[in-house]
Amino acid sequence: MGILAQDKHKEIAFFDGHAATDAYDVFTPETNARLIATCARLAGFKAGGRVADLGCGSGVFTDLLQRHGYDAVGLDLSPKLIELARRKYPKVEFLEGDVEQLPFPDGSLDGVLLSGLVHHLPDPTRCASEVLRVLKSGGSFVAFDPNRMNPFMYLYRDRSSPFYSPVGVTANERPVLAHKIAAVFRGLGFAVGTDYISDLSYRYLASSKLRWLLPAYNAVDRVLFAPEFMKPLRSFVLTFGQKP
Ligand SMILES: C[S@@+](CC[C@H](N)C(=O)[O-])C[C@H]1O[C@@H](n2cnc3c(N)ncnc32)[C@H](O)[C@@H]1O
Repeated sequence: MGILAQDKHKEIAFFDGHAATDAYDVFTPETNARLIATCARLAGFKAGGRVADLGCGSGVFTDLLQRHGYDAVGLDLSPKLIELARRKYPKVEFLEGDVEQLPFPDGSLDGVLLSGLVHHLPDPTRCASEVLRVLKSGGSFVAFDPNRMNPFMYLYRDRSSPFYSPVGVTANERPVLAHKIAAVFRGLGFAVGTDYISDLSYRYLASSKLRWLLPAYNAVDRVLFAPEFMKPLRSFVLTFGQKP
């Protein structure tokens, strides 16, 4: 296994563990709704289109996509999270699978949501090629990932930071740089755009020692990064694009 390959065993062990407590819906319901509406708008998902939620976890965003009127399917590497998603949302379709080897035919999807997933792939090239393969011509994708340029994400989640905490993260993940993700998709021929979002209120933090800071973090995140000139420092990067 090369240095840039995702360690699937570690990833599955970590997320299967989370399924037991059903604690991985990290954002509040209002934030989930706003994030999905923003993603669908940026990607320009067509009403009623077939949209896959890749890295769907326990299925909260797949369910929201379905409720927005898309023909949604969720996919995740963790068998236990897929089991949990099927229990929580019995009317939604879920598949166990790997984004680097998607179980969808060529040109079969109108849209793809990369659901907090790209930052779990040390090299997203294989994932991006699979997204290109499964999308129809004119189909689109959108990805949301923590932004390495955001001071909190950098300090708490980047391995090069002196305050890095490995609590509640997998060995594979790290915050992303917007231009690097964009370059991978652009290199495959996608027309790519980047946006940023803050004010995503967490309801859960992995570290119990830091959990008491959550209301303060949510407030600072909402106010500090609101001005337009602070945009590139917002906590999440949104990458979106269309297949020619
Ligand atoms: C940060 S969680 C996001 C979960 C959910 N979408 C959310 O935003 O709350 C990342 C998810 O990606 C899944 N994942 C990681 N690597 C994957 C891969 N290679 N293929 C499919 N899913 C993967 C994990 O199992 C996990 O559920």
